[in-house]
Amino acid sequence: MNQTQRLLVAVVVSFSSMVACATSRGGPSTSPAVTYAPPPDLPTNVLLATTTTAAPAGEPGGQISEYGPSSQGDAAYRSALSDAYKSFKGLSEGKNADYIPILASVDPSLYGLVIVTVQGAVYEIGAARQEFSIQSVSKPFTVARVIETAGADAVNKRIGVNATGQKFNSILAIDLLKNIPSDKEHLIPAGNPLVNPGAITTVDLLPVAAGMDKWSVIIGNLEAFAGRKLTVNDEVYRSESETNTHNRAIVQLLKDYEVIKGDPLQALDLYTRQCSVSVSARDLGVMGATLANGGRNPLTGVQVVSPATVAKALAIVATAGFYETTGEWLYRVGVPAKSGVGGGIVAVVPGRFAIGTFSPPLDPAGNSVRGQRAVEAMIQRLGGNVFASRPAGRAPQTGATGPAPAPAPTAVARKN
Ligand code: DON
Repeated sequence: MNQTQRLLVAVVVSFSSMVACATSRGGPSTSPAVTYAPPPDLPTNVLLATTTTAAPAGEPGGQISEYGPSSQGDAAYRSALSDAYKSFKGLSEGKNADYIPILASVDPSLYGLVIVTVQGAVYEIGAARQEFSIQSVSKPFTVARVIETAGADAVNKRIGVNATGQKFNSILAIDLLKNIPSDKEHLIPAGNPLVNPGAITTVDLLPVAAGMDKWSVIIGNLEAFAGRKLTVNDEVYRSESETNTHNRAIVQLLKDYEVIKGDPLQALDLYTRQCSVSVSARDLGVMGATLANGGRNPLTGVQVVSPATVAKALAIVATAGFYETTGEWLYRVGVPAKSGVGGGIVAVVPGRFAIGTFSPPLDPAGNSVRGQRAVEAMIQRLGGNVFASRPAGRAPQTGATGPAPAPAPTAVARKN
């Protein structure tokens, strides 16, 4: 091992243990703030770099980079990624979010796709390292931390885990749910942790150990999932803070309904900062692969949350990841996936791999158009529909779609 390699290993190890410390459930921490070793210019797993394939002909920026231990199906991952990239590169449907003004100015042609396997192989193409604001893709990761520390029941009781069938910032949904009878302990107006009311309540509910502040836990948790230090995009944070009147109405209503227990504007501010964290499609791929890998980051080896927490978090993503179009998505593609209005999507195939995508133009529900198409194409190619199965055992009998044919008449030998 040469000098540079030793340095990188030291950085990776110290970063991993600090992240583990930042996210530990242990007793009170005495450290006033979480600090991180500066990330190296290159990704931490560069030590594992293997090969780089040639760019598909005529595709500027269409080069696949590949890092990490090669896994079974290497060529399959590469071609699925490359074909999905080429197939939808020219697709210009959808529109950038503009209710957060700065998001309207992001280049709509940016397009990056990444696959990260549970073995730690990373395949990326296009604008895979372009940073953008994580927005709602952050929500499953923060609720995973809350499930881990406050428990799955606390999330169900205070927030709920059913689909609302309404837009992600629907005030109507809050009031409709308020009028559904439930026991005194079971508050459901927030809907679920992936719509804005539920995501802000998630931040309100997040437990913190003595000596830690909520923000350190939120950002430390996202960093542990991503396996690197992350920062807030101040321009996005300011743009959203100055214009989030709708979310302000939501938190006041939730306070009135005693769903948010603490300061509603403080919860909203933390949530807005969480949504403004800069990530790349590659980060989303690694974060998703951590969920696919039972909560252990396949690049850093850090156990970020338990496998039991992952199962709950992915159930919530499957139920509500694409808001009012989640059912259609699950019906068509069959994998849990979460979108953000910054243009990101993470899709998770438990036990196998995750996909991270970036393309800003959105459909009316707020989900990246090109990202959805690319994920769908890759899942079709690689398999991964969590509802798909094959008959086991014996070879099929006849008449798979109709009633079994009448048994052939038995020849009965008669003795005359
Ligand atoms: O609160 C908001 O409206 C945004 N910060 C997040 C919304 C979002 O990403 C919805 N997802 N597709």
